[in-house]
Amino acid sequence: MSIHDDPLFQPLKLGALALPNRIVMPPMTRSRASRPGDEANALMAEYYAQRAAAGLIVSEGTYIAPLGKGYAWTPGLFTPSQVDGWRRVTDAVHAAGGRLFAQLWHVGRISHPDLLGGQQPVAPSAIRAEGVKVYVDNGEDAPGFVEAGMPRALSVPEIGAIVEQYRQAARNAIAAGFDGVELHAANGYLVNQFLDSNSNARTDEYGGSLENRLRFLDQVARALVDGAGGAGRVGIRLAPLTTLNGCIDADPEQTYAAAARRLGEIGVAYLHIAEADWDDAPLMPVTFKRRLREVFPGVMIYAGKYTAERARQALREGWADMVAFGRPFVANPDLPERIRLGLPWATHHRETLFGGGAAGLTDYPRATGTAG
Ligand SMILES: Cc1cc2nc3c(=O)[nH]c(=O)nc-3n(C[C@H](O)[C@H](O)[C@H](O)COP(=O)(O)O)c2cc1C
Repeated sequence: MSIHDDPLFQPLKLGALALPNRIVMPPMTRSRASRPGDEANALMAEYYAQRAAAGLIVSEGTYIAPLGKGYAWTPGLFTPSQVDGWRRVTDAVHAAGGRLFAQLWHVGRISHPDLLGGQQPVAPSAIRAEGVKVYVDNGEDAPGFVEAGMPRALSVPEIGAIVEQYRQAARNAIAAGFDGVELHAANGYLVNQFLDSNSNARTDEYGGSLENRLRFLDQVARALVDGAGGAGRVGIRLAPLTTLNGCIDADPEQTYAAAARRLGEIGVAYLHIAEADWDDAPLMPVTFKRRLREVFPGVMIYAGKYTAERARQALREGWADMVAFGRPFVANPDLPERIRLGLPWATHHRETLFGGGAAGLTDYPRATGTAG
């Protein structure tokens, strides 16, 4: 197939950006931020710049405030040195010809006091994520996995304060040189905890009816549009069907079609649907995907165990505009080139996904044999 006929290599407009292809590198936590300040650094800049041929890169989950942290060694975006750290990354990606959005993350109940300076995790309701583990390094004991802590329910003024933290994080992202921001409303973290019926037992304006469960998403999305300087600089990641971190909705088609419609009214540039996270990959019916397409007028991105051929099929069928390849981008810095030329994909090493240094981050070779 020539590049002219390949749906993955058709250009696309995303907000004000002109993307050269339909290939997304989705957010992937790699736990290599500098300590103790949780800043992005030169190693991370090299890693992202190596992958700049993606039509769009979304950064690893980046926490927006101290109480939003859920795992050791993940980067933040609320201190001046964190903004400076990300500036190195965005400069490197832009110099390599790429485009980069920041994934803004608040984990809510998926945390532990050891990650929060001794404070209790916060959530819509005091409902624990049973059996979920988070990775802790409190500087005293050996780092390791512990059960997520029991959360306390946020008050209404506290919810308002978190919306403001999102607004400020979006401003910080633009100040750090990002092309836009992606709200992490997927995978069982804070926004998802408000959306899904089994993690939200509130009886005020943030819980109960669908309209109320959508309220936090609505307010955060609008704050991001304001903070980032326009809806064209905002995307939202949703995971309607995965049960990761214990978030399950009683009627996901209705809930997420309503969320997509609302986000379309707000005018955000894209929705990014996480169909799979690791092995939790429930089948998402094409009828559901078509319904999202009908209610959301912006760019639709899908992620989850895609091959190049399945991605092309998704684009041809019309329910996707872009497709994200997660684990393939870990081990193939030149993934778009490999897709274009039909070359085989390397597989990643699990043991170097989280934490450590350059090994397993920046040393995967290109198909031509040169590092990165
Ligand atoms: C190492 C790793 C870290 C991840 N971290 C994040 C994250 O920070 N935020 C997020 O939304 N998804 C995260 N994901 C999920 C991916 O974005 C993607 O949805 C998932 O890997 C499925 O795509 P794939 O089958 O192409 O890998 C992560 C996945 C992996 C493998």
